[in-house]
Amino acid sequence: MTSELGRLIAHRIALTGPIAIADFMAEAMGHPRLGYYRHAMPLGTGGDFTTAPEISQMFGELLGAWLAERWLAMGQPSPVRLVELGPGRGTLMADALRATRGVAGFHAALDLHLVDTSEPLRAAQRTALAAFTPSCAPTWHERLDDVPAGPLLLVANEFFDALPVRQFHRTAQGWRERMVGLGPDGALRLALAPGPTPFAKILADAAAGAEAEFSEAGRALAADIGARIARDGGWALIVDYGYDKSAPGTSLQAVRGHRGSGILDRPGETDLSAHVDFAALAAAAGVPAFGPVAQGDFLRRLGIEARAHALKRQASAEQARALDAALARLIAPDQMGTLFRVLALGDDRSAPPAGFSDPPSDTT
Ligand SMILES: C[S@@+](CC[C@H](N)C(=O)[O-])C[C@H]1O[C@@H](n2cnc3c(N)ncnc32)[C@H](O)[C@@H]1O
Repeated sequence: MTSELGRLIAHRIALTGPIAIADFMAEAMGHPRLGYYRHAMPLGTGGDFTTAPEISQMFGELLGAWLAERWLAMGQPSPVRLVELGPGRGTLMADALRATRGVAGFHAALDLHLVDTSEPLRAAQRTALAAFTPSCAPTWHERLDDVPAGPLLLVANEFFDALPVRQFHRTAQGWRERMVGLGPDGALRLALAPGPTPFAKILADAAAGAEAEFSEAGRALAADIGARIARDGGWALIVDYGYDKSAPGTSLQAVRGHRGSGILDRPGETDLSAHVDFAALAAAAGVPAFGPVAQGDFLRRLGIEARAHALKRQASAEQARALDAALARLIAPDQMGTLFRVLALGDDRSAPPAGFSDPPSDTT
């Protein structure tokens, strides 16, 4: 049994023909009434997945410190647009703001913008950030385009993985896009487009049987962030699971209730996400890019172990065990430490920002 949105998508396909996986994903996640990120409360133990800021306050605190340090390095512009893409329950931003209260002038300079399509999550963000109003009162937007120009500090954790991807399969006749069509029973079904794809010219040639995936939406957003940084100055910090160098293969996955699911199963009630191609984002941004580095290395360089130690000094034995478990989840290589990568985009190539050791890759 599919979902109500599944029936709507099947009806559209019956009328107008198969649609690209990216269009299916855009509907499944963003349909104004039934899309996953319009109505669901996806985060936490009752939802479909848990994210780093929900695991420990240390994550948001350290990212807050990173942003404040970049603001100081930028010469303390005021106002500075502090933008979070996909703030979830607002936990990261609340922890970041609490941790930076002592940075003289920082909160007074902030003009806070939250980009999120989810009404339930916007309500959670409003609650989480109530303690910081009116001085850091947020403005909400559907898309980054609506954020006013100006010096930028942008953070995005597990945002780019939710953006639509296209998938391709190399047949003996060339690349074919994988589409969502209908089976004989009228159910949603994946099938290759019969004819060539106009995207073939940007796919590396490969042997028959090869698979490829890319996110036009992710690249376009990275280009927009890069253009803002090049024009007005600033920094962006992108954290997500993915790979450093563009690679063949596909990664789109579906999760419902913390368990794997089929990507066409119950659209609107299932989380869909794909590994982020960080090399493609850095190239699209076209400004100096630092990293990606492993999340574990990044957080360790920012001092997460010392922060855990300090929190444990005031903790009960049970709280201390929870802190150790959270620390391991965030930085251990077999947990989130290696799979999750951190990329910084900025307008100053003179020295790597905190958490990054290497000079920028030259994408300009
Ligand atoms: C995986 S959650 C991550 C939440 C949060 N950053 C965290 O780490 O807990 C993705 C977030 O992005 C938002 N989102 C997803 N797709 C979006 C889109 N196309 N435009 C704006 N917001 C979107 C969701 O509503 C949600 O807040």
